[in-house]
Amino acid sequence: MAGNAVGLGNFLRFPAQAAQHGGGAFLLPYLVSFVLMGIPLLWVEWAIGRHGGQFGHHSAPGMFDRLGRARWLKYVGVFGLFTNLTVAAYYCYIESWTLAYVWHSLVGTFRSVVPTEFFPRYLGMDAGSVTALPGEAVGWFVLTLGLNVWILSRGLAKGIETAAKIGMPLLLLFAGILAVRALTLTTEDPGVVQSPLVGLNFVWQPQLNGLVDPSTWLAAAGQVFFTLSVGMGSIHCYAAYLARDQDIALNASSAGWMNEFVEVILGGSILIPVATAYLGLNAVQAATAGGSGFGLGFLALPALFNQWGWFAPVAGALWFGLLFFAGITSSLAMGQPILAFLQDEFGMRRTRSAAAFGIATLGLGFVCVWLYPGGAFDEFDFWSGTVALVLFALGEAIIFAWIFGMDRGWAEITRGADIHIPAFFRFVIRYVTPLFILTVFVGALVKPAGRWGEAVRSVFAGDGWPFAADSVVGKVLHVGDRGYQWLDASGRFTHGFVQDMTRLLLLLVFLGCAFLVWLAWRRRAKEDR
Ligand code: PHE
Repeated sequence: MAGNAVGLGNFLRFPAQAAQHGGGAFLLPYLVSFVLMGIPLLWVEWAIGRHGGQFGHHSAPGMFDRLGRARWLKYVGVFGLFTNLTVAAYYCYIESWTLAYVWHSLVGTFRSVVPTEFFPRYLGMDAGSVTALPGEAVGWFVLTLGLNVWILSRGLAKGIETAAKIGMPLLLLFAGILAVRALTLTTEDPGVVQSPLVGLNFVWQPQLNGLVDPSTWLAAAGQVFFTLSVGMGSIHCYAAYLARDQDIALNASSAGWMNEFVEVILGGSILIPVATAYLGLNAVQAATAGGSGFGLGFLALPALFNQWGWFAPVAGALWFGLLFFAGITSSLAMGQPILAFLQDEFGMRRTRSAAAFGIATLGLGFVCVWLYPGGAFDEFDFWSGTVALVLFALGEAIIFAWIFGMDRGWAEITRGADIHIPAFFRFVIRYVTPLFILTVFVGALVKPAGRWGEAVRSVFAGDGWPFAADSVVGKVLHVGDRGYQWLDASGRFTHGFVQDMTRLLLLLVFLGCAFLVWLAWRRRAKEDR
């Protein structure tokens, strides 16, 4: 479960999101979201999973079917297939970059080629078209996917568990070494312009002003979702392999806190401090504008490592190696629910279900690779990796507390518990968490460009609500895209076209998953007769 949660989100997305939203200003909304939404959702998901597992369901549709009588419940579980599948597609692509970068660090590529030139060329962004066919990137991607499929095909204990037992300690070790190196940099070292502790303070010193900014709250809640893997159907799946009386209360919270240790302590001690030491805090904040951490992680760091002499290739291998281990133990967790669905509901054999997952992610991943310059990757990240999580979490929080019912729900969470959960959380799970998620969802729908206060004033001034380009409404309306059209003046397809086609694809994937669920239940009904 810790391998599931600890991922690229901890080392790239967290530092970038924190830096983008004022460092320490991000921290308090983040921690409050973790306690009031993250931990409760972990308990809920573990409980839904263990409960469903007792009926032989290890993926969300069957589990949700068992939460009540209504027939539509299983279709809420479609999210638990759709999100894992589509996130796996683009997530494995990032994972494959980290593997490629381990190689290029070891062979010393970044001694002669500047990463700022290497990365766009690697992605095929240098041609100026909306499509790309970057041979090397495709190669690493196929290799990474193959590795995932192979591990998954070996089954839970021999595959995923072994990968986690090897990957997790190594990633902790690698991160520990890099964190020590990062924090012991001084202005005496060549190239260092500022103490790395300035970067650390920036991330760690709580600032109250974030608490009054709804956009900071939105980003913080979004990060909690992504990093804990909640709202995906992935936690449910692993939990489904627990026995009826095995502890949830302690395991779920220790996996959650373990993730926070790796995220805030280790994740906070590498990227930002190293980059701050060499580039200064202002440049670091500018470089995290997109909030993905790619700029610092794949462009800045490999260049900065060159300052470290003989240690440079090792540092590169440690950094990208830890990202790779973090990534693969997470992508395996996205694959298992799909395999489980095919096995439980269609009686497919394990190897065949692994192959099916591989083919599906290869196809979807190819879209992310091929249309990366046109923005397909970002669409996957936005709709599947951000919006869908909130929707699914909202659905499950309400279903768990209000349809399954809080009495049964609480009994499910606390059965076999190794710790006593304060009764306060019963209240939180029933009221606070669903309302919290609902607020996050509405906020994400209508997030304004600029400050919220100004947006309200703009409405009263008769100028309407200025939707942010990264709000859900803003995306649908292509607010950020001036002169939005499908074809440009010379008749070529535009970003807007690629974005719309990617959305259509995602919608079709969702409907396809729903169709499979419908098919599985029809088959079962026939067999029962
Ligand atoms: N939690 C993982 C991360 O931080 C991402 C993830 C999402 C893993 C969904 C599994 C399922 O990178």
